[in-house]
Amino acid sequence: MSLLSKWVGASSLVGLDIGSHTLKLAQLRPKKSSFILESLATLGLPRGTVVEGDVLDPLTLEEAIKELFAKEKIQTKSIAFAVCGSSVISKKISIPAMSEMELEDQISVIASQYIPIPADEMNVDYQLLPVNPNEAQKMDLVVTAVKKDFLEIITTVIEAADLKPTIIETTASALSNAYRNLFPSLIQGGQGGQEELLALLHIGGSLTHFVILEKGTATYHTEIPFGGHHISDEISNELHLNFSEAEALKISSHKEKNIPEAIHTIIEKTSHTLCTQVQETLTTFINQNPKARLDKLHLSGGTSKIALLQEGLAQKTGLSTTMLKPFDSISYNAKVFAPTFLEDLGPLLFVALGLASRSKTS
Ligand SMILES: Nc1ncnc2c1ncn2[C@@H]1O[C@H](COP(=O)(O)OP(=O)(O)OP(=O)(O)O)[C@@H](O)[C@H]1O
Ligand SMILES: [Mg+2]
Repeated sequence: MSLLSKWVGASSLVGLDIGSHTLKLAQLRPKKSSFILESLATLGLPRGTVVEGDVLDPLTLEEAIKELFAKEKIQTKSIAFAVCGSSVISKKISIPAMSEMELEDQISVIASQYIPIPADEMNVDYQLLPVNPNEAQKMDLVVTAVKKDFLEIITTVIEAADLKPTIIETTASALSNAYRNLFPSLIQGGQGGQEELLALLHIGGSLTHFVILEKGTATYHTEIPFGGHHISDEISNELHLNFSEAEALKISSHKEKNIPEAIHTIIEKTSHTLCTQVQETLTTFINQNPKARLDKLHLSGGTSKIALLQEGLAQKTGLSTTMLKPFDSISYNAKVFAPTFLEDLGPLLFVALGLASRSKTS
């Protein structure tokens, strides 16, 4: 079962994260239980090419992908990419236990009971969760459905860029790969056995993903339509600057002195919108899962680098915020990849690295 009908499989692949702000590619080579960084590159996308997971300008995206691969002289053609937005739905469900063969046969019918998309308009995939020995008569799984017409648009762009769509997963699932493969001790919970739940908040340019990992699998996922673009737009509107000027001021606001106080005020004000929505999402999750215990919010995504936002999130949710460094657990040649560059870019690369880490099991 796979979200791609023409599954091809590959031992070497490129993780391609198609963001609304930046295209990112990463290639990892598995080495024993860890990875070596083979290639890494980013390219800014013109505003409006991709918005909240939807490809609005396929031609511009195709050109950008070609440019990125040509610039880095990437020979590998197999691509792992992630999907998100309104055309993608994932749900954790419980059903009577059955064999995997029966499940394969019935998954489309089962999915259509839970997912409000006509069965012939979606591709369906699922992930089994570990069996609870006290409830062996039922099985838990995460079902994912992606609209076929949406998939068609992205795969057509990738093929037009002379690449081969090979693995497709949800952004939440790509993030779960990143945590499972790059920070396995976090998932296994050190000496105390398996850590039950991990709360992730991935804040990009146009979207924020709130994801709960249950023993390493994304079982709960909410998208909040807010990202760094909203903060830059607000700076641009209030101070009558163009978008790039507003972006530059936002990004340098926590590094440089002499930043107008108005910038901090706008960042704080717009961040408050996200903090409130994250807190509401968290409350919904806790209400649905009263036994869940969370103490940390694991941050990633470009916008999570804003210190004022980190503070606001901690205050509003009562959780401490933390940001892991993916390149602490990946080997790389420091003559090719400068450590400061990797440290700076690390938070933006969780999805690309999560996708690239799939080459381990292919
Ligand atoms: N150092 C920084 N400080 C503040 N914001 C930053 C910094 N670096 C990047 N950003 C912001 O992060 C956003 C881009 O992050 P990211 O690459 O994770 O988004 P994306 O994947 O392109 O978007 P999306 O996932 O929402 O489609 C932009 O809004 C950018 O301005
Ligand atoms: Mg993104």
